[in-house]
Amino acid sequence: MSSTKYISISSQKGGVGKTTINILAASAFHFLAKQRVAVIDCDYPQHSLNGLRKKELEKLQANPEKAAEFQALGRQAYPIVACQVKEALTVAKQLEGKYDLVFIDTPGTINVPGILELWKQLDYIFMPLEADILSVEATLPFAQALGKFSKGQPGSRLKQYYAFWNKHIKSEKQEFYTRTEEYFAEQDIPFLASRLEHSVNYKKEAMRSTMFPLSKEFLRLSISGLITEMSGIIFGTAPVKAADTVAVTEADATL
Ligand SMILES: Nc1ncnc2c1ncn2[C@@H]1O[C@H](COP(=O)(O)OP(=O)(O)O)[C@@H](O)[C@H]1O
Ligand SMILES: [Mg+2]
Repeated sequence: MSSTKYISISSQKGGVGKTTINILAASAFHFLAKQRVAVIDCDYPQHSLNGLRKKELEKLQANPEKAAEFQALGRQAYPIVACQVKEALTVAKQLEGKYDLVFIDTPGTINVPGILELWKQLDYIFMPLEADILSVEATLPFAQALGKFSKGQPGSRLKQYYAFWNKHIKSEKQEFYTRTEEYFAEQDIPFLASRLEHSVNYKKEAMRSTMFPLSKEFLRLSISGLITEMSGIIFGTAPVKAADTVAVTEADATL
């Protein structure tokens, strides 16, 4: 049986952080947990994740100092394959056995040929949502659709899907957060304990890098906790601890 795990930060809503968090998670597992990571970008036609990689490569070519910094990492960048949703399953199967983790960035809509078949073949789906009614209303039917073919349904490898808060603002809408989590629990949709704070840091270039590890400064953000929690779910007994991720980054920085 293949040990490759297929993961997506996915939802039926645009702008909730799917691409950002797919990159952050792929980079954390690649650099900090030293997993063999590949990424499939099937958010056709934008391919924003692949676009970010292209821009970074161009910058590296134009800037020898940056290129030397990359060389000094001693680690190749993870591959990013851009394709359409209907091709993604074939691409995913080609990567099977060659990588530990394959992250898949999808479009924010269910109305794309092949997307249901693709979701069925992922191991875990993490659904970011924001504290607004539109985001919640888009996530519910998505989760309900996933529920029909998860947890051992014939022809599906999807084990579980989880909702989590992105762009969380501590001082706001406490009741909205609590009520939504309670409602989701009633619908048998689990929520991650980790919440990603709303922060301008997530818009910074260094936070969206597909070629460099996260710096220590950013690991103080709640992304560390999210990666730790995801790691526990994906690998069961041997989670990547947030504390370990910081320690590894410090070691990398001294190279
Ligand atoms: N936690 C966050 N705090 C602030 N801005 C965020 C956060 N997460 C994502 N963003 C921003 O939200 C916008 C949409 O994110 P993106 O990852 O492109 O969403 P999607 O892929 O779901 O359309 C981007 O400008 C991104 O920088
Ligand atoms: Mg996106």
